[in-house]
Amino acid sequence: MAVRHFLTLLDLSKNELDTLIQRAIELKALQKNGKCPPLFKNKVLAMVFEKSSTRTRVSFETAMAQCGGSSIFLSQNDTQLGRGEPIGDMARVLSRMVDFIMVRTYSHDTVKIFSQYSKVPIINALTDFCHPCQLLADVQTYVEQRGSIQGKKVVWIGDGNNMCHSYMNAAHQFDFELIISTPVAYKPQAELMQKFAKHITFITEPEQAVKNADLITTDVWASMGQEAEQQERMQVFKPYQVTNELLALAKSDALFMHCLPAHRGEEVTAEVIEGSQSVVWQQAENRLHSQKALLEFLMNNISN
Ligand code: CP
Ligand code: NVA
Repeated sequence: MAVRHFLTLLDLSKNELDTLIQRAIELKALQKNGKCPPLFKNKVLAMVFEKSSTRTRVSFETAMAQCGGSSIFLSQNDTQLGRGEPIGDMARVLSRMVDFIMVRTYSHDTVKIFSQYSKVPIINALTDFCHPCQLLADVQTYVEQRGSIQGKKVVWIGDGNNMCHSYMNAAHQFDFELIISTPVAYKPQAELMQKFAKHITFITEPEQAVKNADLITTDVWASMGQEAEQQERMQVFKPYQVTNELLALAKSDALFMHCLPAHRGEEVTAEVIEGSQSVVWQQAENRLHSQKALLEFLMNNISN
């Protein structure tokens, strides 16, 4: 059995993903009952961060700690990566010492190179291309709140960014309908639109897009690394703010999700994020549970 990596949601089969979500729900219940199994006893997770993080760092560190393992936080500034050590060298060295490597970075090629050189699983904790760990938590949250997401209508509003790309992968893997509503100049990658055409519809007007939605989700208008475009983006994305009025056009029991951090008054109003249809806090918590299930899956699929 070869080592398995998690660079995108496509690295696991549909069945594996469904099982992983169920396991995440089970691990959550165990933790709530004070019964965290020592799944990662003596295991070490290296966490390489080239971008900021709150949820990803805390959820991975807590997952390891609660299950008997430990983690090492490695920022770009404190490692030799920041001084030009080749990625392949870092991957080979780390993977001789630790059991998993989590990477948050800019270029998706960086996580690919890590995976080419690593003997242990590489986990993509966000690249400019996608954010698959977040989708595990999002799907877990939907399943907990409403049951299976299969066949549901999910609407992505805002920027065709890394989160949007992961939603496109998820539509294929979890078999739901995805409506994407972005300004025309900020569509997601055309290649993905084509690849998953069966599950995806593009509707640039948000009011049309949200009709009959079971889930509405959005994200910041300027992602990490796009700070210089912030002002310009604020203007273009204005019509894409998720407001109570927009939410009212969806199904009456539609859920609202946001991967966070959120900018109230930009992509979402305070009323929506604090409102009764918002599940953003459950969603953030589920990063912890779903990543435990992911780490367990990857650990159990390593050949020795
Ligand atoms: N949603 C998410 O990944 O949050 P952080 O950037 O805080 O890790
Ligand atoms: N699209 C956002 C997601 C943050 C979790 C970013 O890349 O900054």
